[in-house]
Amino acid sequence: MEKFLEIDNLSVQFHTPEGVARAVDEVSFNLARGETLGLVGESGCGKSVTALSILGLIPSPPGRIKSDRILFEGRNLLDLDGEEIRRVRGQEISMIFQEPMTSLNPVLPIGRQVAEPLMVHKGLSKSEAYQEAAVWLEQVKIPAARERLNDYPHQLSGGMRQRVMIAMAMVCRPKLLIADEPTTALDVTIQAQILSLMLGLKEELGMSVLLITHDLGVVAQMASRVVVMYAGEVVEEAGVMDIFDGPFHPYTQGLLKSMPRLSTRRHARARRLSEIRGTVPSLIQRIHGCKFSDRCPHVFQKCRKEHPQLLPIGPGQFARCWLREYPERRKHDV
Ligand SMILES: Nc1ncnc2c1ncn2[C@@H]1O[C@H](COP(=O)(O)OP(=O)(O)OP(=O)(O)O)[C@@H](O)[C@H]1O
Ligand SMILES: [Mg+2]
Repeated sequence: MEKFLEIDNLSVQFHTPEGVARAVDEVSFNLARGETLGLVGESGCGKSVTALSILGLIPSPPGRIKSDRILFEGRNLLDLDGEEIRRVRGQEISMIFQEPMTSLNPVLPIGRQVAEPLMVHKGLSKSEAYQEAAVWLEQVKIPAARERLNDYPHQLSGGMRQRVMIAMAMVCRPKLLIADEPTTALDVTIQAQILSLMLGLKEELGMSVLLITHDLGVVAQMASRVVVMYAGEVVEEAGVMDIFDGPFHPYTQGLLKSMPRLSTRRHARARRLSEIRGTVPSLIQRIHGCKFSDRCPHVFQKCRKEHPQLLPIGPGQFARCWLREYPERRKHDV
């Protein structure tokens, strides 16, 4: 597989008054050109922090990145200066942020915000850029988009702001789109339209997508490979079929069990993940064994004492779990 994006042993720590929080702990994964990789896991497990590290957007202090390299088309993003990384952000890698107001400027009309990158990075004239901005806002299904070019973000609902942000991320036709919960704020019909828009663009441009979501239904629809994070670590990585048909890690199994069926997805949102007992451990406290051991239905002594490595368990499938060495323990499944 060609290494288009290569995250190599990334750790991100936040220095807080309570201690050092290991938000991302020795995470490595690759993304190929044109591939869609799903990054999943419960709230607080380090998905957004991983994504923000790629774009050099971790606030420091309190954050500190420890990694040798994040290679993008062979360039180490961690070595770039402020000007260089801004150019990468404008032209090559776009991000749809989890919080729309992170990337929308409250004092500028939305038309201008979508048009500006086209003038700055693609050299379009003002009228060409506004014309194209209107087309994009129509594509993301903003009703009467042409009449709303002069609206300010506060005049739009949360879902509409999310769509403006999606248009902003797509407008420069990036090589890599990092989409952090891109459709969570949208209702199901619009969500389907936006996802198919993203898929279309991906096909047309050969764009790669790093898709961060809680929603395994979206992953099934969009991704070819999945990385599962738990408490700052990758606990499983596999092709999308293996994740759904043969998940290895008990955490991945728990996530799947708590996945609402499509027909009841909206209704079930409030109780998602109810199948995994307990909560994510503190990121400040040092855990010697497996970080999932307190919640794991298969836990045995070794799990509490020794930290498992992420190792292959089949073709293209990796898991960080001692059950790999004790397959007989998997038999009494819960
Ligand atoms: N600026 C910051 N200062 C201190 N801690 C932070 C900061 N940003 C993130 N963290 C911590 O890093 C951990 C990982 O957060 P992150 O936002 O990556 O989670 P996530 O997987 O994206 O969760 P969600 O699904 O809720 O978006 C959390 O414990 C969070 O509190
Ligand atoms: Mg997040």
